[in-house]
Amino acid sequence: MTIVRVGLLGCGDIGLRHAQAYGHLVSRQNAAVRLVAVHDVDPVRAHAVAGRYCRMTGSTVKIVDRAERLFSSSDIDAIDIALPTYLHREAATAALGRGKSVLVAKPLGLTLEDCDAILDAAASPQMIAVAENFRHAPGSKAIAHALGSGAIGYPIHMDLSISIPSKELSRNAPPWLADTGKAGDYLALELGVHEMDLQLAWLGPMALISASRSGTKNYDSGGHLAASISFAGGSSSVTRFNLRTEWTGDWQVRRFIRGPQGSITSRSWCGWHDGVLATPKRRLLSQAYIEGNISSIFRDREERECILEARSFGQAASNDPVGYGIVSCIWDFVVSISKGKRPLVSGVEGRAAVAASHAILAAAQSGKAMTPQ
Ligand SMILES: NC(=O)c1ccc[n+]([C@@H]2O[C@H](COP(=O)([O-])OP(=O)(O)OC[C@H]3O[C@@H](n4cnc5c(N)ncnc54)[C@H](O)[C@@H]3O)[C@@H](O)[C@H]2O)c1
Repeated sequence: MTIVRVGLLGCGDIGLRHAQAYGHLVSRQNAAVRLVAVHDVDPVRAHAVAGRYCRMTGSTVKIVDRAERLFSSSDIDAIDIALPTYLHREAATAALGRGKSVLVAKPLGLTLEDCDAILDAAASPQMIAVAENFRHAPGSKAIAHALGSGAIGYPIHMDLSISIPSKELSRNAPPWLADTGKAGDYLALELGVHEMDLQLAWLGPMALISASRSGTKNYDSGGHLAASISFAGGSSSVTRFNLRTEWTGDWQVRRFIRGPQGSITSRSWCGWHDGVLATPKRRLLSQAYIEGNISSIFRDREERECILEARSFGQAASNDPVGYGIVSCIWDFVVSISKGKRPLVSGVEGRAAVAASHAILAAAQSGKAMTPQ
């Protein structure tokens, strides 16, 4: 496999995690990818990320003073865009215009117009991958595997509830996230786009969405958003996001999918059932506990336990020290470039998830059922 050379644009929270994923792939798996250059308006962050990759791999990374230098470099094949959401369009269209493949942090764009501009700028659809790492998280892969193998029959209904302490978010969030003109609606887009992507992947295209909300549009105080979705294939779902004002230090996610032959239940903490489950005191649990926990989520009609084949999540969990499915997501991006194949989450799928998030918002605001555009 030829080595894919990546330039990283944005060295904040997600940029650093992506750099760690490249570092892990190179140092532990001798993978055919190299992080060759980085840029951030904040040079301290750019140095920190380049330094982290260097310590992991022993290779140096160029720090460039303008994004344009990444786009125009003949030593770079692909650009990893880990910028705040409102900057995705400008960066992705510029990179694609220079013939670079792109990995764009979710959500693909702030608006549908932004998504369409990004899709239009690509010479071929496989040049755009969305860093939708939830799809790569072992727990999500396990659910996809169970649905795909017909373990519960077709999915009749999915119930999802996510409960998050808003104080934890406001403590750790970057300032742009507080501005809905830069980040979009926190529950519907910033957080909700992950869940819309998963539901589109698991239950198919959406026909109609009704929604209601109360409280804030933002992450820093309490709020509630609920969406009821009818899918074109006949499934339905109810999604509830709850931003709790009290401090518990704990994210809680519960997914329940019912089919004619059984159901799938998954519960997790810290938002992602991906092998980095933690107790409220943030003590990391052992791999054995994690695998035991995930493998016990599949139950048949009599509530007897169905043990899922370990390969559907165990390998990914132990190979993803960055967590949240990020190493698998980055590797999928690299393979899509070197083999010229479609990434697991393409630009078209990224747009569909953004459209669903916007339909939830429009339905909540208008009180009318909406079809994603
Ligand atoms: N996949 C996930 O689970 C996940 C989690 C968090 C955030 N995200 C997404 O990742 C993206 C980045 O989020 P984040 O939390 O890393 O934000 P962040 O604020 O931590 O990082 C963004 C970085 O971009 C830099 N930057 C800002 N403007 C720039 C410019 N014009 N040119 C160059 N650098 C610039 C900032 O200095 C900062 O270092 C967002 O779209 C967000 O929605 C994804």
